[in-house]
This record gives sequence, structure tokens and C-alpha cells, in this order.
Amino acid sequence: FEHRALTGRHVLITAGPTQENIDPVRYITNHSSGKMGFALAEAAVEAGAKVTLITGPVHLPTPDRVNRIDVVSARDMLAACEAAMPCDLLIAAAAVADYRPEVVAQHKMKKDPTSGEGLLLQLVRNPDILATLAGRADRPFSVGFAAETENLLEYASRKLKDKNLDLIVANDVANPSIGFNSEENAITVIDRDLGQNSFAQTSKGKIARQLIAFIADRLNQA
Ligand code: C5P
Repeated sequence: FEHRALTGRHVLITAGPTQENIDPVRYITNHSSGKMGFALAEAAVEAGAKVTLITGPVHLPTPDRVNRIDVVSARDMLAACEAAMPCDLLIAAAAVADYRPEVVAQHKMKKDPTSGEGLLLQLVRNPDILATLAGRADRPFSVGFAAETENLLEYASRKLKDKNLDLIVANDVANPSIGFNSEENAITVIDRDLGQNSFAQTSKGKIARQLIAFIADRLNQA
């Protein structure tokens, strides 16, 4: 980044999965590795930004000069993001659990010999972190991810509108070479006018730099 397009900007990035506890030894989570969010944090620092990276549980080293905050659940992630505001740019790359168990058992749940084969776990909706921050009066330039296995561009455009975003990054997770936990990615960025820009498959590090350069351009025009 020769011109350091994000100099003086505070960039907030969410990354990784969240974990939603069922009891002291069990939880609900997903396959997110955090690699894309961490690569974006590194690229944003290279572009001159002050970067806050709020991450669920992942096995990744912290990039240089990144302020990393570790969280566990979706509600923890929202609270950490709110505490880190204001920011100029939000990139929500975390795979946040949509639901959590309604109650967290105080003790390890035991198999119930009287209840037959099944167990019903009651779930409730988690807050939408991205939509919450993009809906604030001091909303940052807001970028979301849409990881889908079908109807990718249609679902992505719908999320762009529903969550009041500036840009959404569509990611086909049905393709194992670019999905969760892969080393590479290929993306299409959709803007508010439904204009599309595609980035060909390459390493997550390279995609992150291309995406940061693209976002910085749009942010600096906005
Ligand atoms: O609705 P969906 O989960 O597919 O939206 C994905 C986008 O919204 C991602 O950018 C993700 O980080 C963000 N998100 C969030 N909080 C949630 C759910 C999704 O920030 N509870």
C-alpha cells in the first residue's frame, strides 16, 4: 500500500466463530477459522489504519500492531464492539451464532433415563452485531459478509438492504476450495446500487489486500 489509504482511520473488524454455552462443558459453534478476518486486520494495518480486531475463539497469532480483543459468545462480541466504538469502518467477518440456548445449565447436563431417546434444546435469537452497529446514529462505513451455499447474490443483496450496509462481500461456502477453513477465497462485492465487483480465487492474504484497497477507495469517496 504505497499511499496508505486508511491513515488516521479506526477500523473495527469482527472475526472467527462465536461459542454459545449449553452447560459448563458443552457449546454450540460453527466452522469459522477466523483466517479472513485476521488477514483483513493485517491488510488494514498495512494501509495505515488503527485496527481493533474482536475475535471469537480461534487458533491464530495476532498480526503486528493490531489491538486484539478475545470474546466467546455473540453477546460478548456485541458488548466488546460497542465499547470499541466509534470507528470509521466496520468489517464484520465473524460467523456469529444466530441462536443460543435459552438457559445455560449450571451443572453438566445428565442423560435423562425417563425421557426416551430425544432431548429438546430451546434456542433464542442472538443480537445482530452488524445490523446493530450499522443502525447507530454514529454508524461507521459498514461492510458485511454473506457466506451462502445457494442463491448467493440474491441472499447477499437482501442482507445488504436488511442490515443497512454500504458493501457486502458474497462468499460461496458450498465450494470447499474457498469455504470455511480453506486457505483461499474468491468473492464478489455488492454495493448499495447493486453494482458488482468480483475478485478471482487467490490466497486469503491477497484477497484481503485487494478488498481493503477497494473498501478504502469507497470509504474515501463517501
Ligand atoms: O445474516 P447473516 O448471519 O448471514 O449475516 C452475515 C453478516 O452479518 C456477517 O457480516 C456477520 O459477521 C454479520 N452478523 C453479525 N451478527 C449476527 C449475525 C451476523 O454481525 N448475529
